[in-house]
Amino acid sequence: MAWIAPSFLAADIWRVAEQISGLEQAGCRYLHLDIMDGAYVPNISFGADFVKSLRPRTNMVFDAHLMVEEPGRFAEDFAKAGVESLTVHADACRHLHRTLQQIKDLGMRAGVALNPATPIGAVEEVLPMVDLVLVMSVNPGFCGQKFIPGALDKLAKLAEIRRSRGYEYLLEIDGGVNRENAAATVAAGADLLVAGSAVLGAADWLAAYQALAAEAL
Ligand code: DX5
Ligand code: ZN
Repeated sequence: MAWIAPSFLAADIWRVAEQISGLEQAGCRYLHLDIMDGAYVPNISFGADFVKSLRPRTNMVFDAHLMVEEPGRFAEDFAKAGVESLTVHADACRHLHRTLQQIKDLGMRAGVALNPATPIGAVEEVLPMVDLVLVMSVNPGFCGQKFIPGALDKLAKLAEIRRSRGYEYLLEIDGGVNRENAAATVAAGADLLVAGSAVLGAADWLAAYQALAAEAL
């Protein structure tokens, strides 16, 4: 059983208040916040002040995904903005262990993200300390890309490592998740399914959320 984390990036800016409260009323527990700096990825989104302005509007868990060079520079800002879970890319941090520890010391859950080309070995030493591992199933930067199937194998390996070594991280899958592949990601071990275009980017976003949530049961 898994949870859907709709990505705010795909929201309709004219209907965003309706979309956020509608998701929450439908039982959605996580809101995925994609932070992009135009350097680590070729796109710019929004920052901590923007996230802070959303905080009083919803009780959903803020699952922030930093696609930012040296994300430790912003960790305190996101903690103050009310983010509960902060995920950084392994290859965006010069000292990954230090950045993850900093996130934990600020009272947030610490996540590490792997790009499609990043091997599990790149994060093996930090697996005992992380609360979440995010497996990218597209290259980061944009909504609406096609799911890369190799992510399923990576999820399954991370699920097996978690089981055999007694680790406790959540597994999150991000990129191109839709009704066709959601059940396969859950079967491979995903606990949290990020959905951008398949939920808030859909014309009938509430029905789309409900249908995807049913696939993840
Ligand atoms: C991509 C972001 C994703 C994105 C997902 O860089 O990390 O969270 O919003 O959008 P879809 O579900 O459309 O691939
Ligand atoms: Zn994301």
